[in-house]
Amino acid sequence: MGWVADAAATVRWAVNRVLWPLRDREAGAEHTELRARQRTLAADGEAVALAVVLPGEPGLGSGRGGRVIGDLTLILVSAAHAQVAVGRVLHPGFQGRGYAHEAAAALLDLATGLGAHRVAATVDAADEPSLALCARLGMRREAPFRQDRYGDTGRRDTVIHALTRDEWLAARATSAG
Ligand SMILES: CC(C)(COP(=O)(O)OP(=O)(O)OC[C@H]1O[C@@H](n2cnc3c(N)ncnc32)[C@H](O)[C@@H]1OP(=O)(O)O)[C@@H](O)C(=O)NCCC(=O)NCCS
Repeated sequence: MGWVADAAATVRWAVNRVLWPLRDREAGAEHTELRARQRTLAADGEAVALAVVLPGEPGLGSGRGGRVIGDLTLILVSAAHAQVAVGRVLHPGFQGRGYAHEAAAALLDLATGLGAHRVAATVDAADEPSLALCARLGMRREAPFRQDRYGDTGRRDTVIHALTRDEWLAARATSAG
């Protein structure tokens, strides 16, 4: 399927930043298909993966109706406390155009619309574009963690960013008005 090739190409580029293991093309496609089958947020720890599709852009495979240029993740951290976590990755060829911001805002709309009280994102402390995106979305820089992740590029620092549902709704109301 075309969209698997698109999505796997995006995620292959981002492994150093999201700290996933490096996968070859076949393993990347398998992992993408596995993530695409995750469709429920019924129990803590469950996640859904969503594709960011750019209409009118030809896909890498046989996909029609646009190219998958990014990947959004929504994770149910705690149903009892209405806490979710989000992640986002955009193919490098499509960055710098505001698409990640538009997609991330739609994900915050979805998360808060589903009842999330607080949305958090864990960002690599050296990932300036991600830090800038969090700031543009109004996500508060809450907590730096020293060397709490280990990947192919060694130990990494991360920073938690978060906002509450009320903060997001207020930001949305301001940008609409
Ligand atoms: C984080 C990430 C998604 C950000 O992508 P991005 O394209 O830089 O983000 P945005 O969509 O907000 O685009 C912002 C840029 O587009 C520019 N832009 C151009 N046209 C625009 C428009 N119409 N609207 C908004 N911004 C626009 C902005 O000026 C800004 O440019 P700048 O970075 O030079 O200031 C991307 O860097 C990425 O995939 N990183 C790796 C994965 C990762 O770290 N994920 C985070 C884990 S939570």
